[in-house]
Amino acid sequence: MNLDHYDEAAQLWKENLGLSPNDTKDSISAYLKRNQNMSYICKLDPEGGLVGAILAGHDGRHGYIYHLAVKKDHRRKGIAKNLVILSKEALQIAGMLRINIGLDRSSPEAAGFWLNSGWRKLESLDFYSISLKDSE
Ligand SMILES: CC(C)(COP(=O)(O)OP(=O)(O)OC[C@H]1O[C@@H](n2cnc3c(N)ncnc32)[C@H](O)[C@@H]1OP(=O)(O)O)[C@@H](O)C(=O)NCCC(=O)NCCS
Repeated sequence: MNLDHYDEAAQLWKENLGLSPNDTKDSISAYLKRNQNMSYICKLDPEGGLVGAILAGHDGRHGYIYHLAVKKDHRRKGIAKNLVILSKEALQIAGMLRINIGLDRSSPEAAGFWLNSGWRKLESLDFYSISLKDSE
């Protein structure tokens, strides 16, 4: 994925996951520069639209997958599975030993995908968070 894909990817994520204030074009641009060759898009033909996109990177310690979505009419064809393989390989090459993903509990279908893909839910951890900006 590069910044040329931003508009379409952001639209896809917005429709399927929702966007956060960290998903502006500037913010994603900085993220892609900091995490090169770790995020991917899927097109079924070079001239066609984007049907899937994954945003992934690391903080030097753990890998993270932030956004993964596939267009509704192209699901269950292995697109997400292959996008995850690409990001996973890139994170492995970067030396990461673990990849984390936070899931919205209101999206049970996503849990099905991760559990059926070999990921496991950590029962021992809860994530805590604080906003560093008034608007978040
Ligand atoms: C979750 C999502 C990315 C899966 O995309 P996909 O391209 O359809 O997934 P794949 O075809 O690669 O699925 C691979 C395997 O995952 C499992 N899987 C996929 N979707 C599933 C679902 N809804 N429920 C249970 N298992 C599922 C299946 O085992 C599947 O293999 P199979 O088709 O041979 O049974 C897609 O449904 C989506 O975009 N959902 C909305 C956004 C979202 O929730 N994203 C994830 C949170 S970051």
